Amino acid sequence: MLIRSRRLRATAAIRDLVAETDLLPRNLIQGHFIQPREGSTEISSLPGIARNGVQATLKQVEADLKLGIRTALLFGVPEPAHKSPDAAAAFDAAGLIPVTVKALKQAFGQDLVVMTDVCLCAYTDTGHCGVNRGAEIVNDPSVAALARMAVAHAEAGADIVAPSDMMDGRIKAMREALEVAGFTNTGILSYAVKHAGAYYGPFREAADSSPKFGDRRSYQMDPRNAREGLRDALLDLEEGADALMVKPALPNLDLIWRLREQTLCPIAAYHTSSEYSTVKAAARLGWVDEANLFREHLLAIRRAGADWIVTYAAREALQKHWI
Ligand code: PBG
Ligand code: ZN
Repeated sequence: MLIRSRRLRATAAIRDLVAETDLLPRNLIQGHFIQPREGSTEISSLPGIARNGVQATLKQVEADLKLGIRTALLFGVPEPAHKSPDAAAAFDAAGLIPVTVKALKQAFGQDLVVMTDVCLCAYTDTGHCGVNRGAEIVNDPSVAALARMAVAHAEAGADIVAPSDMMDGRIKAMREALEVAGFTNTGILSYAVKHAGAYYGPFREAADSSPKFGDRRSYQMDPRNAREGLRDALLDLEEGADALMVKPALPNLDLIWRLREQTLCPIAAYHTSSEYSTVKAAARLGWVDEANLFREHLLAIRRAGADWIVTYAAREALQKHWI
């Protein structure tokens, strides 16, 4: 046999020499749920992740930075009393996320990249990602609110805003609103390909953002479709996005790959709450080896072409040297 592939698998050092994919702290983005009350609240369906008040978030981010995690993605979990039909608390300049962003920027400055999720679902009384007229989630009024939300986050000092709402035209509206308000350097990471379905369950418990009626299929994409996602993603770039995200990650490795081939911008993938929690649950039962399973998840996502991975496992993976 002239060709024996096992020659290059013989020792750990040789395997390292021929490894094609790296998984580095700089690739990982840690999600944070921000609550108005100080202290921490466990999230039962996201083991190891808590909702934190501003002070607890500062402590957590400080520890994350020591592990090498330099990017935080923030999700607001406002009081139920602050949910309303027009989602006004979402674009309140003195709201939960702007206050947290300011505190983070004051504490860590340019050492930290602050990203903020821009969506209305935690702030509407319906739990939908846009404002409603009866059973309809109306596009353009939602986009107007989302653009105001993005500006409020930019004003507070967010480096990158990340719209996850899936309304049409939001990237263009946000880019224009940011320009007009003078935030010409604020980045936009668009959740460009985002499928409707079962992958976001634990997140909705964490963020208290489940729809009170219907589902999200009139704005999130049909998981049967790939071309539709590519088309929307390319449109987002034209509208002014700086980077594109695919979500959920593992069911969409094809789309990560195709976007990587068809664009030149950074590609992010969201290893969602269900991708995380299913591993955690099986590990609790003793059925899977979570260290290796998480590592293989993250490697596959990197190999498909993602530069950045949003994952709830980031902190633990680095703490416990899973990667
Ligand atoms: C808000 C948002 C969601 C996620 C990120 N931003 C939930 C949803 O669309 O219902 C999901 C993240 C996860 O499951 O970890 N729109
Ligand atoms: Zn939403």
